Amino acid sequence: MRRFPLFLLMAAFVAAPALHAAEPPARKAAMLYAQFCSGCHGADLQGGRATSLLDRKWMASDDARLLGAIRGGVPRSGMPAFRKTFTEPEIRALAIFIRESAHRRADPAVGQAGGLPEGIQRTALHAYRVETVLSGLDVPWTLAFLPDGRLLVTQRKGMLVEGIQDDGRWTARPIKGLPRVWVRDEGGLLDITPHPDYAANGWLYLTLADPGPEDSGNTKLVRGRIRDGRWVDQETIFKAPVATYTDLGINFGSAVVFHNGYLFFSFGERGNVGQAQDLSLPNGKIHRLFPNGRVPPDNPFVHTRGALPSIWSYGHRNPQGLTIDPRSGALWESEHGPRGGDELNHIVRGRNYGWPVITHGMNYDGTPVSALTRKKDMEQPVRHWTPSIAVSPIHFYTGDAFPAWKNQLFLGALAQQELHRLKVEGDRVIGQELILKGRGRVRGVTTGPDGYLYVALEIPGPDTPDLVVRLVPAD
Ligand code: HEC
Repeated sequence: MRRFPLFLLMAAFVAAPALHAAEPPARKAAMLYAQFCSGCHGADLQGGRATSLLDRKWMASDDARLLGAIRGGVPRSGMPAFRKTFTEPEIRALAIFIRESAHRRADPAVGQAGGLPEGIQRTALHAYRVETVLSGLDVPWTLAFLPDGRLLVTQRKGMLVEGIQDDGRWTARPIKGLPRVWVRDEGGLLDITPHPDYAANGWLYLTLADPGPEDSGNTKLVRGRIRDGRWVDQETIFKAPVATYTDLGINFGSAVVFHNGYLFFSFGERGNVGQAQDLSLPNGKIHRLFPNGRVPPDNPFVHTRGALPSIWSYGHRNPQGLTIDPRSGALWESEHGPRGGDELNHIVRGRNYGWPVITHGMNYDGTPVSALTRKKDMEQPVRHWTPSIAVSPIHFYTGDAFPAWKNQLFLGALAQQELHRLKVEGDRVIGQELILKGRGRVRGVTTGPDGYLYVALEIPGPDTPDLVVRLVPAD
């Protein structure tokens, strides 16, 4: 046997405890799979010496079985235990990787929108037809009706149009004089919400990516009015400190809803992971304000040293959806997870929703975000989606045209091009149905004054005009 110099042996001995204490660097799930699993389960998870991992059963079962198999193996069949090989976050990342792969296989149609469905579409409670309302849009972001029946549609690249119905025919006219927006990746013109007393005061609340110094931007909330086709009377309601402006074009949020004289406004984490937990920053929070921008004195953190007094809840990643349950007044929120871990949350005053300390997702590059999916004093989502569906708008349907859908939650997805109907009871979801699938990225959902369900669709492809469509009853 070779003899090692004594100092090397000592160095190894001294270094050992430190090596043990430090987390090994995160390794990517796809690389881990290729190195440790593909030999038996196949390069594309299709199976080989061992079973295929693309089986649909993984999508139905919870993560416990999948995680358990990777940690502990299946000794009697020759599946090795990987408990000692991987960190806990890596085991989670592998589980997400397997789920994503299985999902992709089960759903080859995703990503190729094939035009609108023709004829009568049947669902569990109602049959509907799809009608085109407005065409020729460019990445519609949200929809909002005014009391007089006009339909406002924001478009991410900075345009706002007003849809007007005349004799059953819709035309769109652009609104002029809008604020300058920072059009970068997910940033641009975002949400628009009329004041509950719009008929009397004409206020519209607009969220946008505000251009800052040196090609940076951040989420901002303004209000203004539309007069003679122009945006006028603009006032700033919420602006983040200039120090928080960043050149990252992701995770802006944002949505605005009103309830009982208050305004709720969601602000994305903006790609600076960790800021959602920092109460001195606006990032990754839902804020509560009076409609004129003042902070209500009974907000949860007004007496917390160093905290922004506008914060209502925190620990959010990219909250693009907010809505109020018309029956209870409860605030609901949807947020994009990283890779996996999209969430639907029931928002309670002052609570921490966990990002990035707990999450059901992993980083886009396949490295783990966190080993934890739950922790004391952090809220669990009501529903979560892994792999991600890219959950975006949420809306409680309030019309009469589809009576059995009344007060049910409609939830849209971008990447998976889905519209879901969720039956909500209290703070729980007790039923779920897919209403529309593979017809475009669902950007906005709202109830029209006619009771029809209006949906903004971004149709993938370079030259495909985007649409507003409506679902009308065909029972
Ligand atoms: C030496 C071969 C081998 C390797 C390497 C291997 N597996 Fe397996 N695995 C098996 C066998 C055998 C089974 C039993 C199922 C069967 O084939 O019928 C299995 C089963 C599983 C199951 C299903 C367990 C159940 O409850 O049905 C999962 C999940 C799984 N493997 C994941 C992985 C992952 C992830 C890796 C890489 C980290 C991996 N396997 C590496 C052989 C292997």
